[in-house]
Amino acid sequence: MNQGAPDRPSSDDLRIALEEVRAAGLAALAQTDDPAAVGSLRSGLLGRSGRLTALLREIAHAQPSERPALGRLANEVRAELEATLDDRQRVVRREALQRQLAAEAIDMTAPGRPVAAGHLHPLMTAEREVREIFHGFGFEVIEGPEIETDEMNFERLNIPPDHPSRDLWDTLYVAEPGSVEAGAPRPAEDGTILRTHTSPVQIRAMKALKPPIRVVIPGRCFRYEAVDAGHNFEFFQVEGLVVDRETSLADLKGTLEAYARAMYGPETRTRFRPGYYPFTEPSVAFDVGCVVCAGEGCPACQRTGWMTILGAGMVHPVVLRNGGLDPELYQGYAFGMGLDRMTLLRYGIPDLRLLMGSDLRFLEQFSDGR
Ligand code: PHE
Repeated sequence: MNQGAPDRPSSDDLRIALEEVRAAGLAALAQTDDPAAVGSLRSGLLGRSGRLTALLREIAHAQPSERPALGRLANEVRAELEATLDDRQRVVRREALQRQLAAEAIDMTAPGRPVAAGHLHPLMTAEREVREIFHGFGFEVIEGPEIETDEMNFERLNIPPDHPSRDLWDTLYVAEPGSVEAGAPRPAEDGTILRTHTSPVQIRAMKALKPPIRVVIPGRCFRYEAVDAGHNFEFFQVEGLVVDRETSLADLKGTLEAYARAMYGPETRTRFRPGYYPFTEPSVAFDVGCVVCAGEGCPACQRTGWMTILGAGMVHPVVLRNGGLDPELYQGYAFGMGLDRMTLLRYGIPDLRLLMGSDLRFLEQFSDGR
């Protein structure tokens, strides 16, 4: 076996190698421009298996007389590389931060983006105003079902089947179960319909509450209508009902006049005209001076200067009895108004279909802050 002198690395080779590591390290560092690259250069030179580390191990095997000089050189190279790595790392980090800040810059002077909050539909704004006015008069608000029975919607309101006045309320019927599928739709046998007005809730209120009764009843109603700019199969009413021991037409008139002034202004002119409803006797139509032309005469009021805003009257004795109250003891008045036309007039909207469409570009114009 070869028992010759140990295979010592030549010190000249080591010196050259150290200088090469120094030169190559410094050159590579000058080219790096991101912190991760500086990190991997550091471990490639000074880490456990780095090039300089490997050379240090070899110096341990060099001629003993050469080792101190080689060691000094190696330390000098290591110190220079470490210092340069640290400097470069600082510079490269600062540059990276500046690039990131520039990319993520926030324009503090840009206007804020508004929070997209919804608002009430203009019809509901109108409904709330009516409710609030009557609330101020001491009325409470109740509601009733949109799907009613023929009995409540008509019969108990003194409108018998086949009575000609039913033509006033063209009805949408709920179909008898199975009849649509069988290809022969017909009205439900139990008389289920969509309510044509809020008046059936009068009966419900009389049954549920004890006089004195003082309620307003807002709600959605339905009629079998050909839809056009002024008509819809679906619309909104507010009903009013007062039942007490001594309630007169004068109370009705005073209440409606106070309502009209609260809604349309203190100068609003009002008038009663005779009307007809099977469930009130006497019945009236209540007019206010045209809200568009203030009485001058314009297309909106058919040049009369007046607009009918509601129907009303003294609750018919038969209706009181159908509500479970004794007409010898109690009298009452009732009124019913539509919200749709009122809302069109208020905003100058020419067509109901705009109001009932769900186009936000249109509806968002009418928030009234609510
Ligand atoms: N219910 C009637 C309608 O829809 C309005 C009305 C209500 C009239 C109450 C008199 C009393 O036309």
